[in-house]
Amino acid sequence: MPVAIGAKPRSTFTDPIGLLTDCHRRIELFLAVLARVSAQARGGPLSREEREAVETALRYFRKGAPKHIADEEETLFPRLRSIERPDLRAMLEKVDALEDQHEEAKRGHAEIEQLGRKWLAAGSLALVDRTRFAELVAELGNLYRGHIAVEEQEVFPMAAAVLPRSELEAMGREIAARRGLQRE
Ligand SMILES: [Fe+2]
Ligand SMILES: [Fe+2]
Repeated sequence: MPVAIGAKPRSTFTDPIGLLTDCHRRIELFLAVLARVSAQARGGPLSREEREAVETALRYFRKGAPKHIADEEETLFPRLRSIERPDLRAMLEKVDALEDQHEEAKRGHAEIEQLGRKWLAAGSLALVDRTRFAELVAELGNLYRGHIAVEEQEVFPMAAAVLPRSELEAMGREIAARRGLQRE
C-alpha cells in the first residue's frame, strides 16, 4: 500500500496553526505504518512494500518530525510565553509539559530508528528487538495521543485566539523558512 497523505487539502503558510495540525496527521499516519508493519512482519523478512513503508516512515521521523518540534518550541511556544496574561498561566504550564514530552518522544524515535535500521539492514530482528520495536511504537502512539489532544484542543485554539495576525504571519514565514521554502 503506498503511503498517502490523505485527501484533505494541505494548509498553506498563511495558516500556521493549520500547518501544525497537518503535521500531526502525518505523525499519526507514519506511526500507524510502523505499527502495521510491526504487526504484519513481526521482525521477519519484509516484503518490498513493507520495506518501503518502513523506510518512508523512518525518514519522516528523522527529517520531518524534528521540524515540527522546532515549529512548536521555537516558533509557537515562545510567542505564547511572551504574552503577559494571568489567565494564560495554566496553559503555559501545559506548554512546559509538552516540551518534556517532546524529549520523551525524541528518545523513543531514536531507538525506533536504530532498531528499524537494523531490521532493514539485517532483514530480520531478534525476538528481543522485535518486541522492543513493537513496544516503542505502541508507547509513542499513547504519548502522541494525549500530546496532540492537548495541542489541538487547548494550545492551538488559544494561540489562534490570542496571537495577533502579524505574529501568525511571522510564524508562517518561519515555518516555511525551516523547510527551505519562501512564503508567497
Ligand atoms: Fe508537540
Ligand atoms: Fe505538535
